[in-house]
Amino acid sequence: MKKVCVITGGGSGMGLATAKCMPKDKVIVVTGRTLSKLENAVKELNELGYEAYAKTCDTSNREQVRELAEYAASLGEITNVINSAGLSPAMAEPEKLIRVNALGTVYVNQEFAKLMKAGSAIVDISSNSAYILPGFLANEKTFALAETDEEKFVKKILSLPNKLKGYKASGLAYGLSKKFVIWYAAKSAYALGEKGIRVCSLSPGLISTDMGALEAEEGGSLIETTAEKRMGKAEELGFAIASVADERNGYLAGVDVLVDGGSVIGKKFVKKN
Ligand SMILES: NC(=O)c1ccc[n+]([C@@H]2O[C@H](COP(=O)([O-])OP(=O)(O)OC[C@H]3O[C@@H](n4cnc5c(N)ncnc54)[C@H](OP(=O)(O)O)[C@@H]3O)[C@@H](O)[C@H]2O)c1
Repeated sequence: MKKVCVITGGGSGMGLATAKCMPKDKVIVVTGRTLSKLENAVKELNELGYEAYAKTCDTSNREQVRELAEYAASLGEITNVINSAGLSPAMAEPEKLIRVNALGTVYVNQEFAKLMKAGSAIVDISSNSAYILPGFLANEKTFALAETDEEKFVKKILSLPNKLKGYKASGLAYGLSKKFVIWYAAKSAYALGEKGIRVCSLSPGLISTDMGALEAEEGGSLIETTAEKRMGKAEELGFAIASVADERNGYLAGVDVLVDGGSVIGKKFVKKN
């Protein structure tokens, strides 16, 4: 049976870069909302020798995620899910950020887990913004509502961002959505560990992708505190994400892997001196 790797947000940026780091014996399914982008990604992957397929899916829609998971399972055994789909503060209003980044992660983890077997792995992409967010703003009681009462979850998590305006509101909603991703990936790791499904999250710093270019102005201070004073490259993150997803990393579970060039640690270090 063929092994299948599904990459949400695989039409561009870190998702596509991850596809290019996957072993060539895996069938790659790239997914996102824009078919033309996915078709271009498939063309690139085919040229590199991959068997790859495009399937549109909005991860903030549970039914579409379920259909995506069923489609992937029809191609073979789903061994890897990379959930790289996401929107940044410059791209969307607070509510959309929560529905795509946070609830999208719930739908992906839940719907794929129903069809995945022992030895498989899910990697949810968060952000180093989650580390910068003051801890007291992340309320785990609110986070838990995402599995029991979605609309209450959305209302509660937006209560602070809705007191702000413009980029500040979206920036806070983004940070909260990504803090949620880390929390939910860890929770999923314990819920799915008994089935042998490994779950981790990975938090990139400021990375040179379409999204990174949009955030470079607001997020510029994140570059100053990196060890090398630069943005990350999509291909560097692709390699890191593919490594976390690799079966040989079988003991890596329930943790967040921070791949931000030292930006968060650098902030503390700079403050100390
Ligand atoms: N670049 C950075 O500096 C940075 C830093 C920290 C974290 N991240 C995170 O890393 C991940 C990848 O971002 P990237 O930098 O590679 O940006 P990107 O190139 O913009 O990739 C994001 C992808 O997600 C897809 N997407 C957006 N909303 C979606 C939805 N509702 N359903 C399905 N797909 C959707 C987009 O395609 P469509 O628009 O066609 O759907 C796009 O291909 C994101 O989760 C982002 O939050 C990025």
